[in-house]
Amino acid sequence: MGRMALFHRLMAQKTNARNFFQFGKAKGDTGKYEQIVSPGLVSPERGVPEDIEKPPYYFENMPPGNTLGSPEIKTQAQIDAMRVSGKLAARILRECGKLATVGRTTDEIDAFAHGRIIESKAYPSPLRYAGFPKSICTSINNIACHGIPDDRQLANGDIINIDVTVFLNGYHGDCSKTFLVGEVDERGSFLVEATKSCLDQCISLCAPGVEFNEIGKFIQSYCDEKGLESIAAFIGHGIGSYFHGPPEIFHYYNEFPGKMQPGMTFTIEPILSLGGPDIGVLEDGWTAISLDGARSAQFEHTILITETGTEILTRDE
Ligand code: MF3
Ligand code: CO
Ligand code: CO
Repeated sequence: MGRMALFHRLMAQKTNARNFFQFGKAKGDTGKYEQIVSPGLVSPERGVPEDIEKPPYYFENMPPGNTLGSPEIKTQAQIDAMRVSGKLAARILRECGKLATVGRTTDEIDAFAHGRIIESKAYPSPLRYAGFPKSICTSINNIACHGIPDDRQLANGDIINIDVTVFLNGYHGDCSKTFLVGEVDERGSFLVEATKSCLDQCISLCAPGVEFNEIGKFIQSYCDEKGLESIAAFIGHGIGSYFHGPPEIFHYYNEFPGKMQPGMTFTIEPILSLGGPDIGVLEDGWTAISLDGARSAQFEHTILITETGTEILTRDE
């Protein structure tokens, strides 16, 4: 049976909403945790006040942004605006992280984030982006990314990625972190720590004249060393007045051409797994889960290439 066929069969089983059984394919010790196998209940769309500036996709469902073409070099005014949206995204992400506690639902975290974002006169970028129904992404345990906030309560031992993107003064700022809920097992905490360190090292190697592919080359060797797999299906992206644009940042070994230049802004957002690299998408059209049921963690920053190196626009100070 091919991997996709296996995946469809697993999805077709539609058993209980969650269980503790491995899908049985992950090799090695992937630790102890609760697997998510189907989406929960999603609350009605939250409103955004009239006076808040909205991205074009709010008004008309559009396909997701196109990451092809050459990366934009931002002007000083654009960079200043990106600094403001980056700072806001980082602050709200930090606040959301404090809500990653046992018993809290991801819908409650979404409600909080939505409230704080509109209070700051910004727009929650995921809302209505290619039809996404909520204001942030919440991805637990074996969910790689794009988890939709729902009525599931966080359990002791969960790891949860919260991905916050805001649109403010015409520019997006995008960042995410993976948080530990209660007591997380050793493999889980190792994964989260290793993924954070991976992103930090990716950022350190960025500077004018450096090839974008240095990022993927680093991630590949880092994963080999740590016994992890990088989930190749999801890429970092250029960002600005658009949510996703050029360049594409591949998180795996590649030799694609392209060099970093001062004024470029893009995200780096590796997803590292304790199991295999393959994912499938749940019936909600968004939730990306690992095919082998293994956990992954993700960290993301929006960065600016400066004359001398990088500035982390979503740094939390
Ligand atoms: N914030 C995600 C990223 O890092 C994108 C989420 S798209 C959504 O690129 F529609 F799922 F919100
Ligand atoms: Co991103
Ligand atoms: Co993001």
